[in-house]
Amino acid sequence: MRALWLLCVAGSMSVLGCSSAEKASPKKADALIEAKVRQLMAKMTLEEKVGQMTQITLESFAKSGQDGYLVLDPEKLRDGIVNHHIGSILNCGGQARTPENWQEMIAQMQDVATKQTRLGIPILYGIDSIHGTNYVLGATIFPQNIAMAATGNVGLMEKAAEITAMETRAVGIPWNFNPVLDLARQPMWPRVFETFGEDAYIASVMGAAYIRAQQGDDLTRSDKVATCMKHYLGYSMPRSGRDRTPAYIPDRELREHYVKPFAAAVRAGTVTCMVNSSEINGVPVHSSEFYLTDLLRGELGFEGFVVSDWADIENLHTREKVAKDRREAVRMAVLAGVDMSMVPYDYSFYDTLVELVRDGEVPMSRIDQAVADILRVKFRLGLFDKPYPNKNLLGNVGLETSRKVNLQAAQEAITLLKNEPKTLPLAKSARVLVTGPTANLLSVLNSGWTLTWQGDNEALYPQEKYTILEAIRAKIGEDNVTYVNSVTFDEEKDIAGAVAAAQNVDAIVACIGEPAYCETPGNIDDLTMSEPQLKLVEELATTGKPIVLVLVEGRPRVIRTIVDDVQAILTAYCPGMEGGQAVADVLFGDVNPSGRLPYTYPRFAAGFTTYDHKPSEETRENPFHPQWPFGHGLSYTSLVYRALQADRSELRPGQTVAVTVEVINTGDIAAKETVQLYLSDLVASVTPAVRQLKRFEKVDVPAGQTRTVRFELGWDDLAFIGRDNVPVVEPGQFKISVGELSVLLTVPEFAK
Ligand code: BGC
Repeated sequence: MRALWLLCVAGSMSVLGCSSAEKASPKKADALIEAKVRQLMAKMTLEEKVGQMTQITLESFAKSGQDGYLVLDPEKLRDGIVNHHIGSILNCGGQARTPENWQEMIAQMQDVATKQTRLGIPILYGIDSIHGTNYVLGATIFPQNIAMAATGNVGLMEKAAEITAMETRAVGIPWNFNPVLDLARQPMWPRVFETFGEDAYIASVMGAAYIRAQQGDDLTRSDKVATCMKHYLGYSMPRSGRDRTPAYIPDRELREHYVKPFAAAVRAGTVTCMVNSSEINGVPVHSSEFYLTDLLRGELGFEGFVVSDWADIENLHTREKVAKDRREAVRMAVLAGVDMSMVPYDYSFYDTLVELVRDGEVPMSRIDQAVADILRVKFRLGLFDKPYPNKNLLGNVGLETSRKVNLQAAQEAITLLKNEPKTLPLAKSARVLVTGPTANLLSVLNSGWTLTWQGDNEALYPQEKYTILEAIRAKIGEDNVTYVNSVTFDEEKDIAGAVAAAQNVDAIVACIGEPAYCETPGNIDDLTMSEPQLKLVEELATTGKPIVLVLVEGRPRVIRTIVDDVQAILTAYCPGMEGGQAVADVLFGDVNPSGRLPYTYPRFAAGFTTYDHKPSEETRENPFHPQWPFGHGLSYTSLVYRALQADRSELRPGQTVAVTVEVINTGDIAAKETVQLYLSDLVASVTPAVRQLKRFEKVDVPAGQTRTVRFELGWDDLAFIGRDNVPVVEPGQFKISVGELSVLLTVPEFAK
C-alpha cells in the first residue's frame, strides 16, 4: 500500500495553508472584556439573559408614519426592550431610510435600552449590508458578491468592504449580515449572486478579505462593523435548485468544498455566524449539534455567537417537522448551538426558552454560554461606552471617493465572453440600437437587497444614476442611439419595431437577463433565458447587423440557442449602481474588460458540472463542454503566458514551492489580467478533481510589457479530504498549471 502523508489532526489542519496561530481568539484576547462580561452576567436574571438571545424585526416596533413610511412606536419599543429585555433588532422596515432617519431610530432604541432598563445593556442592531449599505438612501451600492469575485481583485474587495463598514456604522448600525460564503455550485439557486461563485478558494480569499476589512483590529472604531459569515453550512446546494429546500452532501464533499470558506472566515476572526435555513442529508442545520457545535466550534474553532436565520427555530416545528411543537423546536436549536433567535416578530422564543430553563430542560450553563458570547461582541464593539450614533459621521455616507471605487469594481467585474471578429469595442461614432429588458432599468443592475428586500422597486432608485441606455446616450450622444422597448422579461412588446430600427444602425446592443429578485421569490423552473428574450435576439440576427449581447443576470441563464447569432457577449452580472456606466465604458473601449467567470457557465439547463469535476466527467464519451468554462474572460488585447517555473520539483512537509510565470501583453492596449494557478493531483486514493484553483492575482500589464507573477504553494495546498474524511497528502505527481503551461511537482514516497 502506498504510504500517506497524513496531515495534522483535523482540528489544527488549516484549509487554506495558514497556520492556526494566525487565528484571532476573541475570547482570550481581552481580559478586561471577560471581566466585564462576568460582572454583568452575575447581575442578570434568567429573563434578562434570554432577552439577550432574542432578536426581533424593526416592523414589530413600528407603526405607519407619513406616506406609509414606518416610524417607531414608543409603546411597542418599551414592551420589547424593557418588558422582554430583548437584545437585538434587525432589518429596515420595508425600505431604505435616510442616514439621519437611521440615526434617529437607533438613538431612540438605545435611549430605551440604556436609560429605561435595569442594567442598561445596549441594543445590537443588525442589517444586511450585503453589497454596500443597501438600506441607506444615498449610500454606495456596490456590485453583488458574484461580480466582486469576477474582478479577481482582492484589494478592491477590501476597499469596497471598508466603505460598506464605514457607511453602515456611520448611520449607527454596528453589525452586518455578510459575507455570504455559500458556494454557487447549483446555478438555479436564486442566491447565486450573493456568493463569490462556485470555487471554495475564491470564496475563502474574498470572504476573509471582506471580514478583515470590515472588522479591522478594533471593532470600537467608528468605521468598523461586526461581520456575520453565512449561511453555515451547505445552504447553496439544494437538489431541486429551489431556495430553502434539502441538500444532500456527503461528508467528504462537504469538507472538500463547503466548509473551507467558513474555516477561512473563522481564521479571519468573524465574530458571528448565521445558520443555513435548510437541511443537509435530512438534518435541519438549526437542529444539529454536530454542525453547530462539534464542527463549528470544536473543529473550526469559532468563538463568536450563532444567530438563527429568519424564523428558522419555529420552522423546525412548522416546516421541517423535526420538532413536535414550538417547545421542542426551541430546546433542540438552543441545545444544538443557536445562541440568538431571529424570531423575528414576537416573544414566543423568549417565553418558551424561559419556561424550558425553569423546567430544567435547558441547563442554565447553556444560556450563560450563549449570553456571554453575545455580550462579548457588544463589549468588543464598544456599544456600552458609545451606544449612540454620531452625527459627525453622517458625511461618511456616499462620498465621491467611494463612488469611484464602486465604478472601478463594476468595470473590473464585467466579463467578455465572446468577441468575434473583434466586434468590440464599438466606435464612439457608431449608430447603435439599444434594446432588451435590462437596458433601461436600475433595479436589474442591482437586484435583491437594494433599497428593498427584492430590489425591484424602480421608483426608489436614484435618478442621477445611469441605466445602460442612459450611459450609452451620454457617451456617444443621443442622436447616435435608438431605443426600442422590444420585450419585457416575459412578454413580447415590439420585436418588429426593434428589427425595423436595426436597419438604420451600425450595431445592436441587446441587453437581456433577469429582473431583480432574491431568496425564494427568485426560484425558477428552468435555467434557460426567457422565451421573449431569446426570440428578440433571434429576430434581430436576421438583420445581419452585428449584435452585442449584454447579460445582466444574477445567475447564468442558458443562452445556447442564440450564442452563434451574436458577434460579442459580455456579462455584467449584477454590477451595482455604477453598472450602467461601467457597461458603456467597456462597450466603447474606455475600459478594457478584465473580469473572469467565477462559475462554469452551463450550456444546457440540466446536468450541471463544476470546473473541479472528476476525471470521469470529462472523457471522449462523456465530454465536458460548458458554454464557457470557469475562469473564462477575454480582453481587448492579447495576453500570452511564458516561462512557468517552479523552484523545486519535489515537495516535503513544511516546505513551500515558489512558482513564477511571465505574462506578456502583446497588443497595444493596457490590460489588467487575473493570473490563475491550478493544481491537479494526478493519482489519488479518492478520485481527484481534474484541477483546482490554488492561487490568483490580478496584475496591471501595460501594452507591450511583461510582468512576472510569483506564487507560493505549501504542503496543505496539496491536500484533499481522504477516504477517512480527514485531509491527507499522498505521494505522487501533481501538475501545476497557468494558462496552457504546466510543470510537474513530485511528493516522494514516505517510509513510516
Ligand atoms: C436571509 C438572510 C438574512 C436574513 C435577515 C433571511 O431571509 O436568509 O440572509 O440575513 O433574512 O434579513
